[in-house]
Amino acid sequence: MINRQFRRAARPVGLPKSTDWAFGQEPVKAPNEGEVLVKVHCISLDPAMRGWMNEGKSYIPPVALGEVMRAGTAGVVVESKNARFAKGDYVVGIHGVQEYGVSDGRDLIKVDAGKAPLSSYLGGLGMTGLSAYFGLYEIGKPKEGETVLVSGAAGAVGGVVGQLAKISGCRAVGIAGGADKCAYLKELGFDEAIDYKSQDLVSEIKKACPKGVDVFFDNVGGETLDAALSRLAPHARVVICGAISQYNNTTPVKGPSNYLSLLVNRAKMEGFVVFDYRAKYAEAMAVLVAHFSEGKLKIKEHVETGLENFPDVFLKLFRGENFGKLVLKIAD
Ligand SMILES: NC(=O)c1ccc[n+]([C@@H]2O[C@H](COP(=O)([O-])OP(=O)(O)OC[C@H]3O[C@@H](n4cnc5c(N)ncnc54)[C@H](OP(=O)(O)O)[C@@H]3O)[C@@H](O)[C@H]2O)c1
Repeated sequence: MINRQFRRAARPVGLPKSTDWAFGQEPVKAPNEGEVLVKVHCISLDPAMRGWMNEGKSYIPPVALGEVMRAGTAGVVVESKNARFAKGDYVVGIHGVQEYGVSDGRDLIKVDAGKAPLSSYLGGLGMTGLSAYFGLYEIGKPKEGETVLVSGAAGAVGGVVGQLAKISGCRAVGIAGGADKCAYLKELGFDEAIDYKSQDLVSEIKKACPKGVDVFFDNVGGETLDAALSRLAPHARVVICGAISQYNNTTPVKGPSNYLSLLVNRAKMEGFVVFDYRAKYAEAMAVLVAHFSEGKLKIKEHVETGLENFPDVFLKLFRGENFGKLVLKIAD
């Protein structure tokens, strides 16, 4: 059996190019004692993957040149030499941009493909849903009646943040690019939607958040972060989840110039990494699955197909061309 895969070929400058990747193949590895062989059905395409291509210190080592590109995956166990897994188990893990992966099982989570589509365990019921959950509840700590502002609101993380905010009795305001994405935010139950591409952010945030912003959940950074900082309520919490507007910069990251708003409003700004909450994943996934089963949590996926299309499909994230969690389906 052949395993087709994308490996790192060069360090990108700005947006990754096709020449930054090498598409190759090798025989599928047989699992050793204690290991499982997983056939990957879906690959999670995440903005963070762009950061993993850079040299330098981060929360996780960079993917070295020549290595298979790291990515979250959902698939099925096709051979098991690990007592915890049986052939046919559906699992999520981090097998990378390839068709088969071998694992000792430590990073694998069994999922119930009968309760929700397998791909949803990469999105709303998986890593991005968990990011929304932990970022909002552990860092944002929203209280009933407060205003939660979310950037990248029509995306995989942002859409879940807004819905969880509503479930928690908050006012949810989303920022997204374009009329279609803003209309979708209303469908999700957001109270207000701001189109940053056609509207003035500072004045629209002021209108949509008349009592100020108690929790700002930021996925975008740059000017969006600055605009939100200008409308903080006293004792606000600013959750730094991501800064997608800065990931392909060829110049230094743009930091917030409005940071004195933190002082004036006795506010806090704190970043988080979802992987740090691994011990609580099962508990949080159970809550997300329950909301989903009860119809309180809608999950939108943007599914593309074909492993060979990975380099171009990945760029959709940075062009705003994905509408929902971006997943590359490579097997049924
Ligand atoms: N801290 C953590 O542990 C953690 C975990 C997961 C994700 N994240 C972060 O969360 C953020 C969202 O990730 P996701 O997976 O949910 O992606 P996503 O929102 O589904 O997709 C990316 C979206 O970002 C927006 N975007 C792209 N370039 C932009 C720009 N220059 N300015 C403004 N918006 C831009 C686009 O939406 P529009 O069309 O609306 O512009 C695009 O559709 C990312 O920053 C990611 O790194 C962090």
